[in-house]
Amino acid sequence: MDSFRFLLILILICALTARLTVSPSSLQLFEGDFLSLRCVEDHSSAGWTLRRNTSIKRMTPCGDGWGQATASACKITYILTQDSGDYWCEFREGATSSTLTLRVTGGSVILQSPVLPVMEGDDVTLLCKTKTTPSNLPAAFYKDGVFIGKEPTGHMTIQHVSRSDEGLYKCDISGHGESPSSWITVTEKHTTKPSGASILLTVLLTVASVCVVVLSLLVWNQLTRRSWRR
Ligand SMILES: *[C@@H]1O[C@H](CO)[C@@H](O)[C@H](O)[C@H]1NC(C)=O
Repeated sequence: MDSFRFLLILILICALTARLTVSPSSLQLFEGDFLSLRCVEDHSSAGWTLRRNTSIKRMTPCGDGWGQATASACKITYILTQDSGDYWCEFREGATSSTLTLRVTGGSVILQSPVLPVMEGDDVTLLCKTKTTPSNLPAAFYKDGVFIGKEPTGHMTIQHVSRSDEGLYKCDISGHGESPSSWITVTEKHTTKPSGASILLTVLLTVASVCVVVLSLLVWNQLTRRSWRR
């Protein structure tokens, strides 16, 4: 195999990431909401199965008693509280996305928190929303059942999150009720074990630097030879 092909394959492998995306981008939904779920793999969107575990049934694929599977997405036109559960994608090549835990409430308050894990040091904004009031109302926020503050506009920003901010969050709007709880995951920035992709990236960068050095030596060699002939 020539080195150009080897590099191309390396780049392809590096670009391969499998994920599940949801629209609207929220882990909590009101009963009756529309939800679209997509399984995305960077180099192809073919050959995926979206599955879920709920308290009623496990490992059920989209279209098997729930959701409507289309070529590119799985749609739920009227979501119900019993659709609460863990959702994930399985790809033909064997890759699996991370799991999203969705909570559907029959109540009138939801907490919108980041769908993706947040990185240590990031700022995280939580939004407490009601079903019926378009404007934002004052909301109380709780972490692991402990009151952490009241915000006049229903937004709470946690600055420079650390691992200790990880936990189960919920909010409350007086006169409207309490949201379900959602887990917020904080991923470490520095001390994580290198993933497959980052090892490959390191290999790729090493190969690239070696190429640059060898090419420079060749060019330098040519230039000095020419000046000797003169
Ligand atoms: C779904 O349920 C199955 C069977 O109980 C279990 O093995 C699997 O780990 C669950 N998956 C997730 C993502 O919760």
